[in-house]
Amino acid sequence: MQREAAQSYADELEMKAKAELPDYVYGYFAGTAGGGESVQDAAAHWDAVRFRPKAFTNTSEGLTRTSILGTQLRTPVLAAPMAHQNAATPLAEIATARAVRRAGSLLGVSTNTSVPFSQIAAEGAPWWFQVYVMKDRGLSSALVERAAAAEAKALVLTVDTTRLASSELVIDPQLWPETPGKRRLANLLEEDLSGLSEDATRGAEDLTLDIIGELRERSGIEVIVKGILRGDDARRAVDAGAAGVLVSTHGGRRLGKSVTSMQALPEVVQAVGNDCEVYVDSGIRTGDHVAAALAMGARAVFVGRPVMWGLATGGEDGAAAVLERFTEELRLTMAAIGANTIRDITSDMLWRPQATC
Ligand SMILES: Cc1cc2nc3c(=O)[nH]c(=O)nc-3n(C[C@H](O)[C@H](O)[C@H](O)COP(=O)(O)O)c2cc1C
Repeated sequence: MQREAAQSYADELEMKAKAELPDYVYGYFAGTAGGGESVQDAAAHWDAVRFRPKAFTNTSEGLTRTSILGTQLRTPVLAAPMAHQNAATPLAEIATARAVRRAGSLLGVSTNTSVPFSQIAAEGAPWWFQVYVMKDRGLSSALVERAAAAEAKALVLTVDTTRLASSELVIDPQLWPETPGKRRLANLLEEDLSGLSEDATRGAEDLTLDIIGELRERSGIEVIVKGILRGDDARRAVDAGAAGVLVSTHGGRRLGKSVTSMQALPEVVQAVGNDCEVYVDSGIRTGDHVAAALAMGARAVFVGRPVMWGLATGGEDGAAAVLERFTEELRLTMAAIGANTIRDITSDMLWRPQATC
């Protein structure tokens, strides 16, 4: 029953956010590519995982703490980088960072944030900077240097959305007339942009593997590649210097008929799981889903829209409640499957670990 109750928790939170947000903001946050097939399948695929609980284990402590690239955290439930959080709550990533600090989690900060890095960093939560490489590479270089100087612990290079699939997912400034959601790229200065064409900040559509080493060198911090759905791509990214890969369908915003991240995770873990940390997101809606992902070999999960719904309905408190609830549900699932610590959640706890529904 916990799973069903938790499933409806995420849905109910979304309905509450929908009622409170302007239609165009809700439409952007909830938007999907194509016919939304990947989103429809995502939670269902995580739901379809079945566990083989272990008996005679000590589950008295239920420890959810873990480490991610050496950063100690109290939970493997992390906040995904999402653009335009200021359209959900005026404090935007400042609220998210506070929520993340309370939950003992980690924050992904989008290239399209409206908040200066220094203000996010001042909240004391560990954070990673998500990089969209722009047509003007100098702008991306400036951003990653500034993020590293503001003590971002790693870069998350998004490789799946050099061009968004649906026009609904591209923000038309005309549609955001009065909202602060119109502001983005707060970490670029006016002088960075002066003399450049409108096109300069658009995504580069000719990315090659060299970019991983370039970003690493430029920033001095590790690079994780986000948006990987194939074992061979994961292998190439790691061979080119990536410290981790994030299996993701971008929350179904890139390609309607994409495989789900649950379907892609096993082949990615098989390809690079011994060499680097593997993370996963898209469609994670309950603690059971988190446990399933960890049992399949993910080191941690990122949660996107539910955190946005939390921000929209309750600001810092709302986002903290989502991260804490998913963590508490994970603790319950751990007790039920016979895991006392995160390390105890192993692939033998899955029934048919390679199941693809
Ligand atoms: C409103 C919104 C904005 C997003 N913005 C970004 C972004 O700027 N950069 C990025 O790499 N991913 C972005 N994502 C994708 C998330 O990082 C994450 O992959 C996705 O939301 C996970 O799926 P879920 O929403 O089903 O949990 C965004 C997602 C949403 C819903």
